[in-house]
Amino acid sequence: MCGIIGIASNKPVSINIINSLKKLEYRGYDSAGLATLNKSEINEKKCSGRVEELEKILFKSPSDGNLGIGHVRWATHGIPNLVNAHPHSSEVVSVVHNGIIENSDEIKKKLELKGLKFKSQTDTEVITLLITESLKDNEPLESVFNTLKQLKGSFALGIIFKNHKDIIIGARRGSPLAVGYSNEENYLGSDSYALKSMTNKISYLDDGDLCILSKDKVEFYNVNKKKTNKKVYTLSDDENVSDKGDYKNFMSKEIFEQSTTVKNCINEYVDSLKKDINIYNFSIKPEKINKIFLIGCGTAYHSCLVAKYWFEELTTIDVEIDIASEFRYRKLKFNPDNLYIFVSQSGETADTAAALDICKKNNVKTCSVVNVVESTIARNSDWVLPIHAGPEIGVASTKTFLGQMLVLYILCLKLAKSRKDINDTIYQTNIKNLKALPDAIKESLKVENSVQAMAKEFLDAKGSMFLGRGLSFPIALEGALKLKELSYLHAEGYPAGEMKHGPLALIEEGLPVVVIAPKDKYFEKTLSNMQEVIARGGKILFITDHKKELVNENIRFGIRVPSLDNLLSPILLTIPIQLLAYHVALLKGCDIDKPRNLAKSVTVE
Ligand code: F6R
Repeated sequence: MCGIIGIASNKPVSINIINSLKKLEYRGYDSAGLATLNKSEINEKKCSGRVEELEKILFKSPSDGNLGIGHVRWATHGIPNLVNAHPHSSEVVSVVHNGIIENSDEIKKKLELKGLKFKSQTDTEVITLLITESLKDNEPLESVFNTLKQLKGSFALGIIFKNHKDIIIGARRGSPLAVGYSNEENYLGSDSYALKSMTNKISYLDDGDLCILSKDKVEFYNVNKKKTNKKVYTLSDDENVSDKGDYKNFMSKEIFEQSTTVKNCINEYVDSLKKDINIYNFSIKPEKINKIFLIGCGTAYHSCLVAKYWFEELTTIDVEIDIASEFRYRKLKFNPDNLYIFVSQSGETADTAAALDICKKNNVKTCSVVNVVESTIARNSDWVLPIHAGPEIGVASTKTFLGQMLVLYILCLKLAKSRKDINDTIYQTNIKNLKALPDAIKESLKVENSVQAMAKEFLDAKGSMFLGRGLSFPIALEGALKLKELSYLHAEGYPAGEMKHGPLALIEEGLPVVVIAPKDKYFEKTLSNMQEVIARGGKILFITDHKKELVNENIRFGIRVPSLDNLLSPILLTIPIQLLAYHVALLKGCDIDKPRNLAKSVTVE
C-alpha cells in the first residue's frame, strides 16, 4: 500500500510531487522518492523515512524537469531503506509501484541468468528491468504491455522513459490508480485525495487498464490493448476539512469532531420532518433478504461485529460476519437472496475489494458502507451508503469507526421497519435516540481528563486486557486494537465470560484490565467476571454508562459516559477507549498520526 504520483506539465513538477506525496503518506512512510526527466536524463532523488527528508534533499539540490513520478513506500519486499526506496530506475526507464509482484523471484532468476544485475531487494525492480529489456526492440507502450503480461500479483504503476520525455505510462491491476486533468497538466495518483489540490476532475482506471499521459492529453487502453474512454468525475470540495487546525495532531482533531461528523451523518439519513430514514434505493427487497453478510478488516470488521448484535436484536434476518481476508478464500454457497455488505473507510482495502469482487462474480447483491465515495469498493458495489465523516488522516480509524457503526445501525433500523420486524413506536423511539446521539458524544468527550490520568497506569505495564460482553465485546476488541497500534503495548480484547477458558492465566499483579460494562443485561455478569480478574491481581479500569455509584476498592479508575439507550452504548463507550489509546501513545512519545509499520490504506493482500 504505497502511494504513487505522476505529473506531466509545462512547468517544473518536483514541488507539486512533494506536496502530493505528503498527502499520500497515509499510505506508507518507510521511504520516499521521486524521478524527474531533465534534459533527457532521469534525475532520481530518494530517502529512507518521511517525505520531509526528501523535501530537504530537494531543497539542497533541486530537481528540475516538467515531468516526473513520485512514491511513498510501505515496505513489502525488502527492508525499509534507501536502496529499496522507489523509484527504481535503469539507464532508460524509471518506475514507481504500489502492490506486490508475486512471481518476482522467478523473473529475477531468469533475468540474472541473462546477466542482469539487481540493485535492490524489491519486487519492483523486475518491472524496471523487464521494460528496459523490451525497450531495446519496442516503443514504450508495447514494452509495458509485454512486461505486464509476465507479472503475477497486483500493481499500480507510474513509468517514465528517458527517451520519451513527454509521457508517463500508468497501469493498474488490483491496486487503485486515478488520473486527474487540468490546463496544460495531467496527473496520475493512487487516489483522488493526492490530486485534489491540483484538480477536481478525475477518472479511475479499471483493472487491467493502462494510460499514457502527457501535459495536454490522456489516452486509456483496456486489457485487450483497445483504446477506451473513461468517465470524468467532479470531486466534492471538502479540502478545508483536511487541516488539523489548533489540534496537536489529526487523531485528536478526528476524535473531537465526532459529535459533528455523527450529526452530519444523521442529517443525511434521517428525515426530521417525516420522522423517517431516507434509504430507499435497496438493491434487494428488504422482505426478501434471507441473510446478511457483513465483511471488513480491522476496525471496520469491529463495526460489523457490533452491527451483528443490532441486526439480531431488531430484525429477523440471519447475520454472518467475516474478516475480508478470510471471506475471500472460503468455499461459500452464494445465495441471490442474501445481501453482502462491505465496510471500509478508504474503500480501497485490497482484501475487502477482493471479497466484493468474488460476490460480484457470483451475481449476488452487494452494498458498501464507505467514507470515500469515489473509491474502488464504492464504485464496484451495487449500492453505496456513505458515512459522511469527511477525510480521516490519522492512520488509526476513529471518527470513521463511529460513522460505520452509525450507518449500519441506521440501515438496520430501516430494514427492521420495512420488514415489519419492529413496529412504528419502536422505530420512532430509536430515531429519537439517534438524534440525541451528537450531544451525548459531546458529553462523553468530557471524560478526557479522567482518561488522561488513567493512561499513566499503562506506562510500566507489560501488557493489558480489554473485556466486554454483548455489544461491548467488539468495543473491547477495538480498545485493544487502538492501544496496540498507537502505543505498541500488547493488548488483548476478550469477551469477559471467556476469560476463565484460558486468558485468565495472563492476569498477574498490576496488569491493567479495562472492563467495559454498560447498564445492560450483562452488567452483573461482567461484574462477576471482573471479580475473577481482581482475585488474580488485575488492576481494573472501569468504563460504564451506569448511573449507580460503584464502590469497589479494587477499581483503580472509573469512567462514566452518558447513558442514552442500550443499543447505542457501543458508540458512546468507544470515546473513552479512543482517548485512552491516544493518551497512552502521547505519554510514550509515539507518532500518533503515523504509527510504526502501518498505513492508512491497505492496498496489498
Ligand atoms: C485501525 C484501522 C484499520 C482499518 C483497516 C481497514 O485503526 O484503521 O484496522 O480499519 O485497515 O481499513 P478500511 O476501513 O479502509 O477498509
